[in-house]
Amino acid sequence: MEERYRQAAEILNDAKTVICLTGAGISVESGIPDFRGAGGLWAKYDPMEYAHIDAFRRNPGKIWKMVFELMEITMNALPNPAHLSLAELEKRSMLRSIITQNIDNLHQAAGSRNVIEFHGNASRLDCLNCGQSYGASEFDLNGSPPLCRDCSAVLKPSVVFFGEAIPMRALAESERLSNLADAILVIGTSAVVYPASSIPFIVKSNGGRVIEMNLESTGLTHSITDVFIQGPAGKTLPELVARL
Ligand code: APR
Repeated sequence: MEERYRQAAEILNDAKTVICLTGAGISVESGIPDFRGAGGLWAKYDPMEYAHIDAFRRNPGKIWKMVFELMEITMNALPNPAHLSLAELEKRSMLRSIITQNIDNLHQAAGSRNVIEFHGNASRLDCLNCGQSYGASEFDLNGSPPLCRDCSAVLKPSVVFFGEAIPMRALAESERLSNLADAILVIGTSAVVYPASSIPFIVKSNGGRVIEMNLESTGLTHSITDVFIQGPAGKTLPELVARL
């Protein structure tokens, strides 16, 4: 494993533009379950029934039940050493930007400033009926779904559901950075959800290097990953940063 840390450190020290793609796995050590790992959210809730935009349109109250449960967990979650390590890399000007699939705000809470929220975030609520948009903090989210103040439709958290487009700015900025980067850290993602999963491939196709950090191997590991560091990111990422 020492050799892998050395290789990864060399890549990061030599690179001019490093970006990072994170997934739910980076927040598991903060107490937030991932989706497809052992005990993940999708083992409890069928994503097509609870995280597809058509399911939300059909029965928003049912989706809000899961959303309230997730909010309960995320609102008490704190950044873990993995989030703090990425904030440290940004401070040392060794990390240009994080592209995160997560909506838990933990990168920002850890001090990272350049964070692209590829799947939106839960701090805003949108009305699919009349187009109004609100800050989530304007509502007392106490168990009953928030209603639009203009047309009384049930509001939707501004996170990207299956069947919805990635926010334009996030997509454009991520593509721009992926084409600029000569190295990418891929941390805590199963890399099965497109188009986020295409980001490491863009970096690789431009001759960039791919460092993957995960509890287990993924579809990237034996295809485009240059250095695979297995283990909990809360442990492996500080180990890597300590070698830079
Ligand atoms: N350290 C590192 N990796 C971890 C850890 C940990 N402590 N715990 C779990 N993992 C890994 C798992 O092995 C898995 O490969 O994190 C990955 C989490 O994968 P998913 O649960 O599929 O989460 P993610 O890749 O972020 O999902 C992408 O799918 O459901 C949608 O919109 C949702 O953004 C999400 C997207």
